[in-house]
Amino acid sequence: MDTKTAQELALPVGVTLDRFIMHSQSAFPYATGELSQLLRDIALAGKIINREINRAGLVDIAGGNGTENVQGENQQKLDIVANIRFIRALKNGGEVCAILSEEDEDIIHTGNNHGKYVVAMDPLDGSSNIDVNVSIGTIFSIYRRVTPINGPASIDDFLQGGRKQVAAGYILYGSSTMLVYSTGDGVNGFTFDHSLGEFILSHKNICSPAKGSIYSVNEGHFHSYPAFVQNYIGQCKVKNLSARYIGSLVGDFHRNLLKGGIYLYPSTKKDPKGKLRLLYECYPLAFIIEQSGGKASDGFGCILDIIPTSFHQRSPVYIGSIEMVDAVVKA
Ligand code: AHG
Ligand code: MN
Ligand code: MN
Repeated sequence: MDTKTAQELALPVGVTLDRFIMHSQSAFPYATGELSQLLRDIALAGKIINREINRAGLVDIAGGNGTENVQGENQQKLDIVANIRFIRALKNGGEVCAILSEEDEDIIHTGNNHGKYVVAMDPLDGSSNIDVNVSIGTIFSIYRRVTPINGPASIDDFLQGGRKQVAAGYILYGSSTMLVYSTGDGVNGFTFDHSLGEFILSHKNICSPAKGSIYSVNEGHFHSYPAFVQNYIGQCKVKNLSARYIGSLVGDFHRNLLKGGIYLYPSTKKDPKGKLRLLYECYPLAFIIEQSGGKASDGFGCILDIIPTSFHQRSPVYIGSIEMVDAVVKA
């Protein structure tokens, strides 16, 4: 008979996100717990959105809504639902004085003027993949406000630059739901256990492999890319690398972060600044990749060094394993 020890019969559940956040906070004796609470609020919003996404095929929540967002892109119903869920969770949480969302032109004042933080977010990324059951995500970026506490937040709070992020991360709604974040002290990943309703630490101290064998780019636009990108894609083929492109930034980024690879969204003739948004797509993922040992470039310099000028500005992005990003900018 296959006899197990008592320990083997009841393996520990692992470290919950709440416990991890509490433990990390205790390393900073002067921490007030507000950032910890904000991270918990984001996790709660992620759980609620996860529930909505899981039911998408059953209730009338999938599909387009017949409206356009501030970027002139078609909104999916779930884009709107995720936006509302996030804004509500952050308003109720009380730590955030203002929010910038992909779905809204201007910043949203939460009414919590005592809040020390602002959040920029893409509530649902890859929304064209919703109806076909492919991975989608949420991306968030957190700054400590620079405007005085107890007054209203302003544009200055959001245009501090990527290096001023105090935390950033994403939630991936995939074959399992994961929260990956960093507060500037490495990157950790938590997998959602549906039965417990908890995120459990599953990927401790994630390190981006220095090189990889995957390149992720929409090759349909190849002829519209700058010459150095075309050269790099040519080099990938010569080296027999694998092309993997979901069309969900979070999913493509996450795979490459764990396995080693590069994600490219270059400028095109139609979109000379690329497609992805600096404040709530490029900056947070650049923060994560640098914290894990990888790199993010716009083809000229580090994404995190770009000086922002407007809420919804775009940037080309080359992000992932450090040697691959170095190779693309030299190609
Ligand atoms: P969003 O759904 O928030 O508008 O972002 C979609 C983004 C990103 O997730 C993805 O990698 C990229 O658009 C795909 O663009 P293409 O279809 O042009 O390849
Ligand atoms: Mn997006
Ligand atoms: Mn989006």
